Amino acid sequence: MADNVQFKTQTNTSNGLHGTVRVPGDKSISHRSIMLGSLAEGVTQVSGFLNGDDCLATLNAFRNMGVEITTESATSLTIHGVGLHGLQAPTGALDMGNSGTSMRLMSGLMSGQSFAVTLTGDASLSTRPMQRVIRPLSQMGAIIEATEKGTPPLQIQGNAALTGRHYDMPIASAQVKSSILLAGLYASGETSVTEPAPTRDHTERMLRGFGYTVTTSGNTMSLQGGGCLRATQIDVPADISSAAFFIVGASITPHSDVLLEHVGVNPTRTGVIDILRLMGADIQIQNERTVGGEPVADIRIKSAPLQGIQIPEALVPLAIDEFPAIFVAAACATGTTTLTGAEELRVKESDRIQVMADGLQNCGIEAQPTVDGIVIQGGTLTGGEVDSHGDHRIAMSFVMAGLRAEGEIYIHDCANVNTSFPGFVELAQSLGVEVTESLV
Ligand code: S3P
Repeated sequence: MADNVQFKTQTNTSNGLHGTVRVPGDKSISHRSIMLGSLAEGVTQVSGFLNGDDCLATLNAFRNMGVEITTESATSLTIHGVGLHGLQAPTGALDMGNSGTSMRLMSGLMSGQSFAVTLTGDASLSTRPMQRVIRPLSQMGAIIEATEKGTPPLQIQGNAALTGRHYDMPIASAQVKSSILLAGLYASGETSVTEPAPTRDHTERMLRGFGYTVTTSGNTMSLQGGGCLRATQIDVPADISSAAFFIVGASITPHSDVLLEHVGVNPTRTGVIDILRLMGADIQIQNERTVGGEPVADIRIKSAPLQGIQIPEALVPLAIDEFPAIFVAAACATGTTTLTGAEELRVKESDRIQVMADGLQNCGIEAQPTVDGIVIQGGTLTGGEVDSHGDHRIAMSFVMAGLRAEGEIYIHDCANVNTSFPGFVELAQSLGVEVTESLV
């Protein structure tokens, strides 16, 4: 087996987290910048790109299909768009790595191509459900084969004639919504989708930024096929999902005062701030502005005593990636925190309900998993051993738990932190987090 990475946190001797930092670029927006930039007419410049493994999987896929993408620095790219019909058949399968966003959004886009494509993924992605996109795409005329379990690899045939349809989404998923809308670019007539609750709307915003008309009416989004995308400039804000670790870390560590700069605060992403504020966190949104169609702000966090809450279900889709960090906040709060309506957490990069419950229990916290959530009793974190199951967000969340733990926490299987947050350990150390990383 290849070397993996282990994190070790020190006992809770921290004097608080202090400093001003900018966490890496937003993962959702970075994926979409490559996809839309590649399919646009003209040259798109991207700054603030997240050069994590997930987005690089998307980037390499488009290079493999003939798109010239040059890198001026790790975070600045120039994409020479080939137009909606300009991609070439790739050599071999397209490897989506650990990235569910790549797999699901590419399923929609690849359904409209004139050539066949196979999409593969790593061990985790190969267990994740794909019927949620295959079903609506098939209704539009796409021809996609998965394993018997509905998991990758996906074989997508070329030259399928796509027809616009309406789809009522049974689950609140931005990936499903986006996959359908992206297929709709290649479909005849109107493609529309209704979501059961609001989910991140970067696809709609960015399509509009590329000059494509997308109509939003309540929870229904629609577009007409057959248009074209026009190249643009994209300034990717810092990822609130990466900021979330330090929002929690600073909240739970006495004497902290941290400023996170240029963070995307799109209202479909800020559930973590709402939930932590309900728990008593001291979070200020400063200098709010709009950059390239996305709201951006600086976020200042000071430590504050937290109380357990019943998390409102309406906030679940708006904080879907931040629950591992929120569970750590709950472990450090007074009283009980209860989450319901979050069964989606069981099919993320790991089963985040079970894996977080196991890790918290190993660190001395009472955490009871339920079918669609968890019940966490705030308490005293001891040291312990945690298996992140290769899930980046689990690994980083337990580094924050280390800030309050009475002993060392050893966190195993952390290499995938690079999927979303390259440089995490160094940035955490710069704010005062005592964590070390080693190859095992
Ligand atoms: C994403 C949507 C979410 C999120 C994922 C990124 C996106 O997934 O968990 O990290 O970029 O559209 P779901 O749509 O499956 O909830």
